[in-house]
Formats: sequence, structure tokens, C-alpha cells
Amino acid sequence: MSWSDRFSEVARDIQSSEIRELLKLLADPEILSFAGGIPDPALFPTADFQRIAGDIAADPDRNRDALQYAPTEGYVPLRQWAMDHAGAPVLELSIDNVLVTNGAQQGLTLLAGALIDKDTPIAVAQPTYLGALQVFATHQPKFVTVATDDDGLQLDALETALQSGVRFLYTIPDFQNPGGFSQSEARRTAIVALAHRYGVPILEDTAYRDLYYDAPPPPSLLQLEARLLAAKGGAGEWNKDGLVVQLGTASKTLMPALRIGWVIAPEVLVEKLVVLKQADDLNTSSLNQMLAHDLASQVLDRHVVTLRQTYGERRDVMVETLRRHLPNDAHFSAPKGGMFVWLTLPDGMDAGALLELAVAQEKIAFVPGAAFHANGGGENTLRLSFSTCQPDDIKRGMERLCGLIRKEMK
Ligand SMILES: Cc1ncc(COP(=O)(O)O)c(C=O)c1O
Repeated sequence: MSWSDRFSEVARDIQSSEIRELLKLLADPEILSFAGGIPDPALFPTADFQRIAGDIAADPDRNRDALQYAPTEGYVPLRQWAMDHAGAPVLELSIDNVLVTNGAQQGLTLLAGALIDKDTPIAVAQPTYLGALQVFATHQPKFVTVATDDDGLQLDALETALQSGVRFLYTIPDFQNPGGFSQSEARRTAIVALAHRYGVPILEDTAYRDLYYDAPPPPSLLQLEARLLAAKGGAGEWNKDGLVVQLGTASKTLMPALRIGWVIAPEVLVEKLVVLKQADDLNTSSLNQMLAHDLASQVLDRHVVTLRQTYGERRDVMVETLRRHLPNDAHFSAPKGGMFVWLTLPDGMDAGALLELAVAQEKIAFVPGAAFHANGGGENTLRLSFSTCQPDDIKRGMERLCGLIRKEMK
């Protein structure tokens, strides 16, 4: 008997993510890894976590709920917090618009289940978050890729995609994974207007929104849609006319192990996602929802200040070192937030082949960019993360990378 003969069509097609394979390299202490897009564990708010976990465990009323099954929709105070955090005062949001999920990743899984049939065309940025491509792929859609520039999605390419009748657009407007760009307010406004002109929903992933190092990002697509509907005199009709669905997560600012994310969507969609979630996992851990709520409401505001300062310094060192040493035939994005720098190698240079040399000769790792391209391409691109490395290591690692690129150009 061969198990692989019994795999479904989807399981036969799906491959392990290059990133997950690469994360195994982190185990080698010799390697300076710029591969994983994960928070620095040294920055977790551990003292607050210990205090809050202790308080919940010591309170019999709270721990009775914390240890029990819970409603699929989520812990009410956390839903309320997520709604407030979305900051859309002109929207008539209620907690019925909020579903708590096991990380933003489950939000994507549920939305894919609710919205994608086999061969359904869906629009994604080129490049975009690999985890979204993977979960969408399990429903076998037709990917329609939208070209990007330093300001994110290109409007003419987006309009062509929306006109072609895609079911939805998936986008990360703030400090995108992997491209690093953050869209300007003008570009965001135009995207929301285009979505409304063609009646196409937008899945707005805000995973990195709070991690800004210069100025706060422009309003979210959800906030801009609220403005658009208010201007039309119908902000109260968001449940009927809203096209923007927002995904959020506590992973990048608090801790990924909580596995807490949320989806903000019109009620009819939330109701469908709740049914799908019920079938999937009944509910997100009650204990983790309480921890996330208490951490988010008591600690997050001051904690993100530390994150912004520390990650911001690391971003500066990476950008500065690349500016100084990267050969002219290559270029990179200088992100205003998030965790990633996107690097384009000279034409014809393959980032996969470069990685092998980088690990073997220079003891550094990054993620080749091809994996972030839904329909192929991007072989000469790569993603660098600055979130987990100390400034000296970033400087050393980038000097080595630039030296290697220079050597390979000869
Ligand atoms: C853009 C984006 N969305 C969603 C996720 C998933 O995050 P979570 O830990 O909330 O599932 C990630 C994680 O890397 C991400 O980069």
C-alpha cells in the first residue's frame, strides 16, 4: 500500500513551503538567518504575560471560563477590543462584525473556504504572502496576479484584474510581506474606489500595520471605505454595501503562540465564517483569547513603542549597509515598517542558486523570492528579514551578501 497513491488531488499538488524548510536553518547557530519573518523572542512581553496568566489562573470565576469551550464567534471583550483597534469610527461596526480566529492564517483559511471554488479567479499582488497563496491554492483557484511598484499595487494592472471578474482581491497595504512597501493614501483611496466601481471584495491583511518606524501608515482600506460610504450618505449600510474585509493578528506585536487573529466583515459573511470555523475547530482557545485581550488592552500600546524602536534601528542598519555596499545593478526597497526588505538581483542572477552559496560560503540565509509569485517569475528576487538579528550581525550579514553578489556578477 502506498499512501501517496491515496492522496487527494489537492494533497498531491501541495508542496512544503520553502520558508518552513528554511526555518530549519535557524537551528544552526553558525548561520546568520535573514530568512524567517518572525518576531524576536527576546522582545516578547514575558513579565506582563506571567502576571496576566497568573491573574487569570488565580481567579476562579475567570479560570472557569478560560478552561472551557467557548462560543465560536470569540470572547466578547476581545471582539470589542478588535473592533475598537480597527479604528473606523464612522462605521456602524458592532461585535457581530468580528470573528476571532486562530491567527490571521485561519482567517484566510475560512475566507478561502467561503469564497473560492475550483477555477475561481482571484487577484493577488505579485509578489505576496506565501501563506495566503498556499491556503488559497488548496481550493484550486485561478490566480490573477497584479503587478506592484514601490507604492504597492499598480492601478492599471489592478483595474484590468477587477474588470476580468475576479471573486476578490487579497492585499497587504501596510509594509507588505514580502515586498516591504506601504501604499500611499492616494493609492489606497483609488483601490477602494476601483473595488466599488467593479463590485469586487477586498481582503485587507493588516498583519504589520502597528509596526511602523517613521510615521503611522495612512488610513486602512476599511477606514477609507467607511469614508467613501459616508460621503455617499450610507455609512450605516456597511453590512449591505461593505466590500472590505479586514484581517488582524496579535502574532507580530504580542506573541504568535497565542494564535489569536480576527476577521472584521459584514454580518452575513461573519455568519458563514462562523459555520465554517465551527466545523474546523469549534472555537479558538478561551484561555488564549483572555490572555490576548488582557495583554492587548493593558500592554500593547506601550509594548509596540519598544518594538518600533528596536525593529526600526535594525531596519536602519540593514538599509544603510545595503545602500553602501549593494552593487548598482541590484536594488532594494527601504521599508517604512514591518520586517522585510525586498531585494532585486541583477538580471539573470538566480536567488535560489545564490542562497546555496550564501549558506555554504557566507553562513547567511534569506528567502528566494520566486515562492511569493503565484504564477511563476521573480527568480532574481529575494526577501530579507531584519526582525530577529542584532544590528552588528545585520551589518556583517549584509556586507557578506553584497560581497557575494558582487563576486557572482563577475
Ligand atoms: C501578511 C501575513 N498575514 C498573515 C500571517 C499569519 O499570521 P498569524 O500568526 O496571525 O496566523 C502572516 C505571518 O507571517 C503574514 O505575514
